[in-house]
Amino acid sequence: MRKLILALVFTVLPALGLAAEGTVPMDHMEPDHADKASLQRGVTLFTNYCMGCHSMEYSRYKRVAEDLGIPEDLYENNLIFTGAKIGELMKNSMKKDMAADWFGAPPPDLTLEARLRGESWVYSYLRGFYKDDTRPTGVNNVVFPNVGMPHVLVSLQGLCGVKPNVGVPASVEPLSGNINNGELCPSYVSEGSMSEAEFDQAMYDLTNFLSYTADPVKLERERLGIFVLIFVAIFFVFAYLLNREYWKDVH
Ligand code: HEC
Repeated sequence: MRKLILALVFTVLPALGLAAEGTVPMDHMEPDHADKASLQRGVTLFTNYCMGCHSMEYSRYKRVAEDLGIPEDLYENNLIFTGAKIGELMKNSMKKDMAADWFGAPPPDLTLEARLRGESWVYSYLRGFYKDDTRPTGVNNVVFPNVGMPHVLVSLQGLCGVKPNVGVPASVEPLSGNINNGELCPSYVSEGSMSEAEFDQAMYDLTNFLSYTADPVKLERERLGIFVLIFVAIFFVFAYLLNREYWKDVH
C-alpha cells in the first residue's frame, strides 16, 4: 500500500511543477488552433517582427502553410524573405555567438517556446515591455526582468512609461466608480500605430501561432480522440457480453 501511495505521489509531482507558473504576473491566454484567421495573422507578425532574430527551426514552411490554409505560392512570395524554398525548415541566418555579444544572450529558437513557458507567459511577456533608461536597450519587462530583447513592437504598441498592468486585475473604486488598472498601460511615452485593444489582439494572434508551432497536431489529436472514445465505448459492450458468457456457468 505504501508503495502505491508513493507511486501516486510521483505521478502527480510533474503537475505540481506546472502550478509554479504563477510566480510572475501574468494575464491568462487560451489558445485556439481552430481559429485559422488568428493563426494567419500570427505567422505574418512572426515573420515580419521576430524571425530576423528568432528561428523556428523545428517547423517547416510547407507544413505551416498547409495547416494554416495559406496557398503555397502566396506563402513563398510574401512570408519567406531569406530565399529559402517552401520545403525547408524555418531557420534564420543570425549567428548565435555574435547575437550573444550584441544582446547579452542569444535569441532562442521559438518553436517550442509556448510549451516551455506556457501561452499565458508568452502573451504577458509580449505585452510587458516598458521604458527603463538604466537598461542598454532602453526597456525592461515586467514578466522577464532585465531581458536582453529590445521592444521590437514599439512601432505598433508605443512605449509605456511605467510598469504595465500585466497580471493585475482591474478593480472599481466603490466611492468614485473609477476603474483602476482597466488598461494595460496608464501612460505612454510615445504612441504606436495600434490601440491597446488592437495590440492585445495582435499579441493574442502571435501567441496563438507560437502555441500552434509548439503542438501542431493538437487539433488532429483531439479529433482522433473522439473516435478512440467511441471505439472504447462500443468495445466495452462486446467485452461485457463476452465476460458474461465466460462466467455464466461458474457458480
Ligand atoms: C533584435 C532581435 C530580436 C527580435 C527582433 C525579437 N527578439 Fe525575442 N529575444 C531576443 C533576445 C536577445 C532574447 C533573449 C533575452 C534574454 O535571455 O535576456 C529574446 C527572448 C525572447 C523570448 C523569451 C525566451 C525565453 O527565455 O524563454 C521570447 C518569448 C521572445 N524573445 C519572443 C519574441 C517575439 C514573439 C518576437 C517578435 C515580435 C521577438 N522575440 C523578436 C531578441 C529579439
